[in-house]
Parts: sequence; structure tokens; C-alpha cells
Amino acid sequence: MSAKTAAAPVVPNDLASFWMPFTANRAFKARPRLVARARDMHYYTPEGRAVLDGAAGLWCTNAGHNRAPIVEAIQRQAAELDFAPTFQFGHPRAFELASRVAALAPGDLDHVFFCNSGSEAVDTALKIALAYWNVRGQAQRVRFIGRERGYHGVGFGGMSVGGLANNRKAFGSLLAGVDHLPHTYNREQQAFSKGEPDWGAHLADELERIVALHSDTTIAAVIVEPMAGSTAVLPAPKGYLQRLRAICDKYGILLIFDEVITGFGRLGHAFAAERYGVVPDMITFAKGVTSGSAPMGGVLVRKGIHDAFMNGPEHVVEFFHGYTYSAHPLAVAAGLATLDLYREEDLFARAKKLEPFWCDAAMSLKGLPNVLDIRCVGLTAGIDLASKPDAVGKRGFEAMERGFHDENIMFRIVGDSVAVSPPLIVSEQQIEEIFDKVGRVIRSVS
Ligand SMILES: Cc1ncc(COP(=O)(O)O)c(C=O)c1O
Repeated sequence: MSAKTAAAPVVPNDLASFWMPFTANRAFKARPRLVARARDMHYYTPEGRAVLDGAAGLWCTNAGHNRAPIVEAIQRQAAELDFAPTFQFGHPRAFELASRVAALAPGDLDHVFFCNSGSEAVDTALKIALAYWNVRGQAQRVRFIGRERGYHGVGFGGMSVGGLANNRKAFGSLLAGVDHLPHTYNREQQAFSKGEPDWGAHLADELERIVALHSDTTIAAVIVEPMAGSTAVLPAPKGYLQRLRAICDKYGILLIFDEVITGFGRLGHAFAAERYGVVPDMITFAKGVTSGSAPMGGVLVRKGIHDAFMNGPEHVVEFFHGYTYSAHPLAVAAGLATLDLYREEDLFARAKKLEPFWCDAAMSLKGLPNVLDIRCVGLTAGIDLASKPDAVGKRGFEAMERGFHDENIMFRIVGDSVAVSPPLIVSEQQIEEIFDKVGRVIRSVS
């Protein structure tokens, strides 16, 4: 057997070939942060050191790691049906999962288009919006409105509606015809708010200004995250999402909630749409649908939008879009087992119940050196740290390294902000442990 085909070692002897995504590659390879195993609330390094997962992997392992029912469902599925095309053919469990996801969604969001990631879900939703206006005879509706500080993945559509400068600036002019709402963060007005801040609902009215500029008849859809996660947790101000819905209704503009992070319990409900009592026209999801155990994403679509496509000769494809791995059998099996687990362990309600305890624990870090603001909603928290002079992002990076190597905790960083979002199985004791560790890390990088 050649070296290349020999069984993979647990510790790689060469880190060079893997160009890591969204990673400071040189720093990582100089001092790797490797995990080789996981169980429930913990990762384990190749040497066996337990690392508390304060990030749910990447906002996705909502049911905890390596849960037996999910692992077994994937194993059974792999032995039974490895792959089946979903272009012109189908496999039964894909239909079952679509029904199960739709049953969790509010209102008439009762159709699901499957893909493999959040980025694909966003680009799919944008394409559904464009194609919908085409079939409705309003093909001039081609503009999308995103929001500053929004993250909608890395496809060209998602990048274009996204509002993070670093994710956009190297990639040319992106999609034409996109405009952005202002972000909803104002430290002076909102610092250390628990949950949705009182200030900021009026920022939704900026949509009126954008509509006046471009004309309502040219706008296909508005896309926002109910809680902007990848910019270090910006909860929607009280009343903001309801106001966006009202303005979209006034002008017949589609409203898309990107729930790739907020879906599947993160904010204490199956979808954040339910928390806010708002029914968007589409919801994008990924991550939590399989608790991170297999790549899957999707778009929930309201009945009226789906039905608008169902015309013309029956033998003709209604929507020219899809992925080879849409509703891949392994991901579908993982999704079904994950939804069972969420239901059996009532994990969404658990997140809701823990939220006050979680927020109090997060806020206990107020007053530590360099802490400028703390935000929390559902089981998420964002902690802004002051940047070092002339080295933006360095304090955050050091915090992540210290966390992993010295305090045995994994969390996310966004520049100099720390983002925490544990699996929903987290206990009160583990919540205290998370913030004790984060607190020690913050002190150590002061
Ligand atoms: C709101 C939102 N949309 C889209 C994405 C992209 O998802 P993926 O990385 O699975 O493509 C993410 C990822 O974090 C996200 O948070």
C-alpha cells in the first residue's frame, strides 16, 4: 500500500495541502487547533484533551455531538441506499423530511427545496424570488435588498446581499442591482441589552427610502437574518422584523429570513420567525437541520410562491435549479433522526427556558478589561472586546488561541468579538463553565 492510500493517521504529519477556509492558515499551521473526536458537549484533541464546545461546532450541532440515534440512522442509511438522484426520481425519506421541516414552520411555509449548505440555500432562495416574479409576469423585479453586517454565505448571490466588507471586497462587482439596509447596531443606544434591544425598530423604515429610490416595482426581495450571527450576534431590535414585514407587504416585496443559524432551536423556537410572530415568504435553513452531522440546507417556501410555478405542460420542469446532492440520502436520514431527537428531548423549549440563565451568565462578564458590549438572545452571546492599537483582530485571535490551548474551550471570533453558541443540550453548570472560561480568557488577553 502506498503512503497515500494507507489508513489516515489521527495526527497529520503534514498540514500543508489543506488550504483551510476562513482561517489564518499560517498561524494555524504554526500552532494547530486539531480535534479528532466529539461527544455531546465536548470535542477531544488527538491527544485526548477534552475541549468544551462553546460554538456548537459552527453554530450547527444543536443536539450535541455524535448522538447515537443520529449516528445510527446515518449508518443504516449508508448500508441501505447510498445515493439516489432527486432530478426526476426520488427516495421516500426525502419527502418525509420535507413534510417534517414544513410542519415546524409557521403559516403556509409548506414547501421545501433541498440543497447542501447555507450558501446554496441563500442562492436558491434568491433564484426562486427572481423566477417567481418571472412566472408572475413581473420580470422587472430583479433587485435584492440585503443589510449591512449581514452574512448570507459565500455564493455570488449571498456575498452580494451580505454586508461584511471583508467577504466582498476582493470579489469584484458581484450581483448588480443590490442595495442594503443599515445594520441595526448602535452601541450608545443598545449596549448590554438582554435579548432584543428596545432601540432600533425605526431602522426598518429605511426600506421606504430604498423603495422610493429604486421604485417598488423593481425589487424582488429583502433578505435579512432575524439575528445576525456572523457579525457577533446582533439581535433584531424589538418590532423591527414586524415593521420590515409590513413594508414588504405594502409594496408586494418578498421577505426572506435567513435562518441558517437561528433555525432549529437556537432562539428557543423551531424558527425565529415564530419567536417574532412574522411569517416571511421564504426561510433558508442549514446547519441545525442535521445538527451538523451531514451537509444539508434548504429553503422553505410559501404555498402561493410554490404554486405559481406549477403551471404549463406537466412534462416540463417547473424550476431549472437543483444540486446533485439535493436531499442526499445520508443527509436526509441524519435530518429525520435529528428532528426526532429535538422533539423527544424538547430541545427548542429547553433553549427557551435556559435563555434567562444564559443571558445573566453572559452579562456577568460586564466590567472585565476591554469588554465594550455584550449581547445575547436565545442561546447565543456576542462579546465585543476593544481592539489593540494598530492591530485590529489580534486580541480576538489571541482569545481564540488561549481559549483552545489553555482553557479547553472552543468559541468563534469575529475580529475582536467573541461569539458563543453552545449545543442546546448545555446544562446550567456548563453555561457557568463556559463563561468562567471565557472570562479567564478575556482577562488573559488584556
Ligand atoms: C445566516 C447565514 N447564512 C448563510 C450561511 C452560509 O452557510 P454555509 O457555510 O453552510 O454555506 C451562514 C453560515 O454561517 C449563515 O450564518
